[in-house]
Amino acid sequence: MNITLEWKENYNTGIEEVDFQHKYFLKLIKRFAQLTEGEPDDEYVKRLLLEIVLYAEFHFCSEENMMIRADYPSVKQHQKLHNELVQQLNDEISSFKNDKESIIHLIAFLANWFMHHTVEEDIKFANHLS
Ligand SMILES: [Fe+2]
Repeated sequence: MNITLEWKENYNTGIEEVDFQHKYFLKLIKRFAQLTEGEPDDEYVKRLLLEIVLYAEFHFCSEENMMIRADYPSVKQHQKLHNELVQQLNDEISSFKNDKESIIHLIAFLANWFMHHTVEEDIKFANHLS
């Protein structure tokens, strides 16, 4: 598999809470990626996916609250984007089957989803703050 799940310098927004949460989210993706190494239990996979969705929702809520506190002008737009991202994630998960092919597909989806969100979107908020 050709996806790096290590933290990279360009993921840093410089906002301590955001970076902390992003690092944790990446850790969850790595944990999910480890499922390819064994024969994961259906119930555990379901719970891990639930943790990923709940953490993503928590993270977005947390970020939106930071934006509101900072009077970020694009908060509504960012909120809309967050809702779309959660929708995409839920769509992916609803078509997920616990087999290797599905796991590999979802790892790639999560990695791209994460990078797009951090590197392209959150950096705009970080620039607003600085
Ligand atoms: Fe974020």
